[in-house]
Amino acid sequence: MFKAAVWGSNGMAGGEALRILAGHPDIELVAAVSRSRATQPVWTIHPHLRSDYPETTFISPEEALSVETDIAFLALPHGASWATIREYRKRGVKVADLSADVRLRDMTACKEWYGKDHPAPELMEEAVYGLPELHREELKRAFLASGVGCNATCAILGLVPLARAGLIADARMELRVGSSEAGAAPSQGGHHPYRDRTLRVYEPFRHRHLAEVVQECGLDASVFTMTMTAAPLVRGVQMLAQVRLSRKVKEPELWKAYRAATAGQPFWSLSPARPAHLRLPDPRLVLGSNRALTGFVLHEDGERLLVVSAIDNLMKGAAGTAVQCANLMLGLDETTGLTMRPVYPA
Ligand SMILES: NC(=O)c1ccc[n+]([C@@H]2O[C@H](COP(=O)([O-])OP(=O)(O)OC[C@H]3O[C@@H](n4cnc5c(N)ncnc54)[C@H](OP(=O)(O)O)[C@@H]3O)[C@@H](O)[C@H]2O)c1
Repeated sequence: MFKAAVWGSNGMAGGEALRILAGHPDIELVAAVSRSRATQPVWTIHPHLRSDYPETTFISPEEALSVETDIAFLALPHGASWATIREYRKRGVKVADLSADVRLRDMTACKEWYGKDHPAPELMEEAVYGLPELHREELKRAFLASGVGCNATCAILGLVPLARAGLIADARMELRVGSSEAGAAPSQGGHHPYRDRTLRVYEPFRHRHLAEVVQECGLDASVFTMTMTAAPLVRGVQMLAQVRLSRKVKEPELWKAYRAATAGQPFWSLSPARPAHLRLPDPRLVLGSNRALTGFVLHEDGERLLVVSAIDNLMKGAAGTAVQCANLMLGLDETTGLTMRPVYPA
């Protein structure tokens, strides 16, 4: 058994990591880390995991660093991960980060999107972007897997096949997102009476996760816009991208590009608009699972394309992908502990 520490384990993404590890046959939880909840039983914050962790208590960061560990999951806020990554680096412990701390490779982009110089540039160079669908072989050799933005993941999986085929002239993305994206701490905008049944549009054109889309698609930022809508969901992200193609195409060419990208991907599949018994990606169809769905509809003019993708933000957009990366880094089958089916209806 490999031993795992989960930092930020009282939070939303950290709690999801605990849920996955409870059913993982080859990785066991040895440290559930929280500053504010140290000494409390894990189930006081995650009551759904009471029978999985009847005796486990949260421990402090100081205590956690003295626990023997093979892999550390860092579900910490942006800016809070890099120092802990350094600590584990010294101890030779692999890290699957979930934060935004080491997602970007380019220092200029980092300053542009996050507003300051990165405090640990050496980690940015060392990290592999933590999306196995794009970086599987590098992750097998990695010490550090970066986190992935949940909106970025949804967008990248929708658009990368087109980017690889040189087919994107521009892509206008609309992301509909659930409230768990914002983490466990209450906020004015996220408080249930204010958020439920609203469709609040925010961060028009340039959500931060666009930086990851630009990086992973290898295209200029001017090609994209990314606008968010807070939808009345708890979990789930859906991307709708109106893409103007760089040239006229016929549908079989698109199928070829998307089939090439999704071939051999255990968690990423196509969900086309046709035949009629299928349907375009809907977050409801992936809830609680590590699956990602991508679908598309070509306009009859052959130049305009609607791309739709969906994930569960806490799974494929955070903890699920982090465990998938950890599996690869530890030499395990990447699907280990992640084969749970979606809950439907939910
Ligand atoms: N929620 C999602 O859907 C999602 C998706 C993709 C990626 N992520 C990323 O995953 C990370 C965690 O997100 P989350 O939604 O799980 O957040 P969260 O619910 O707020 O949990 C984060 C936890 O980190 C701990 N923490 C440690 N150092 C901290 C510090 N310096 N300041 C504040 N809190 C600190 C806090 O617990 P203590 O104070 O007890 O230590 C807190 O409970 C973020 O970087 C986020 O961007 C989240």
